[in-house]
Amino acid sequence: MTEFQHRGDAKKRFVREMFDDISDRYDFLNHVLSFGIDLYWRNRLIRSLPAPGNDPILDVATGTGDVGLVLKKHFPAARVIGLDYAYQMTFHCLGKIRQRGTSGFTVVQGDGEKLPFPDRRIAALTISFGFRNIGHYEAALAEFFRVLIPGGCLRILEFAEPESRIFGSLYGFYFHHILPRIGALFSRSDAYRYLPESVDRFPSRDTLRSMLGSTGFEDVSIQNLTFGTVTLISARRSGKEE
Ligand SMILES: C[S@@+](CC[C@H](N)C(=O)[O-])C[C@H]1O[C@@H](n2cnc3c(N)ncnc32)[C@H](O)[C@@H]1O
Repeated sequence: MTEFQHRGDAKKRFVREMFDDISDRYDFLNHVLSFGIDLYWRNRLIRSLPAPGNDPILDVATGTGDVGLVLKKHFPAARVIGLDYAYQMTFHCLGKIRQRGTSGFTVVQGDGEKLPFPDRRIAALTISFGFRNIGHYEAALAEFFRVLIPGGCLRILEFAEPESRIFGSLYGFYFHHILPRIGALFSRSDAYRYLPESVDRFPSRDTLRSMLGSTGFEDVSIQNLTFGTVTLISARRSGKEE
């Protein structure tokens, strides 16, 4: 039995409202509950990208902007755009950009399923711990494909079911029983019940691979990080750069 919706418009509304509510504690809980490993995961994502040319990098579901800020450090000349559906998350992101004096990182409120960008404009599109939260996966993938330049890169960083049974049961205990209790002490309690349930209900590696293939993406590869608790999915929009 599930407590939450994991597809569709009801999920979309719930997710937006939840992230608006938890935005002020989001960074703190992220680092504490992942024992700081989240910084390593985001770095792996960024280091997997080739240097972009003149076209911008788009970070969808940018949240409080941690990926965008590291992208700017790694590619100082790049133009980075962060987009998120939850206004309060973009508000915190903007605060961090201003506080650090980062230039060339613009943040917009918008929907990853309906990107406010023309076709073939984005050199690389990243989405870190955001794809699982999208209401309509196929619609978002079609949009990612549309805005990428031919040959452009897609990177999805997301939680996954660990492939090792022994590690999986220890991790499962932490993720389903300890994490929601700690989360509830500091933040909206259903947010940290939603997290493990949404990972359980997230499409498998094989399903994701075939969804990307049917959208038109090529060179799909899936890398397990930290015993497969997280996956880094790489794909390329077919065609050569024009
Ligand atoms: C777990 S946070 C990830 C934030 C950030 N990328 C990170 O690595 O910390 C998930 C984010 O996805 C955003 N989100 C969910 N659905 C979205 C959609 N349809 N379009 C854009 N952002 C969305 C939420 O508002 C939230 O900020």
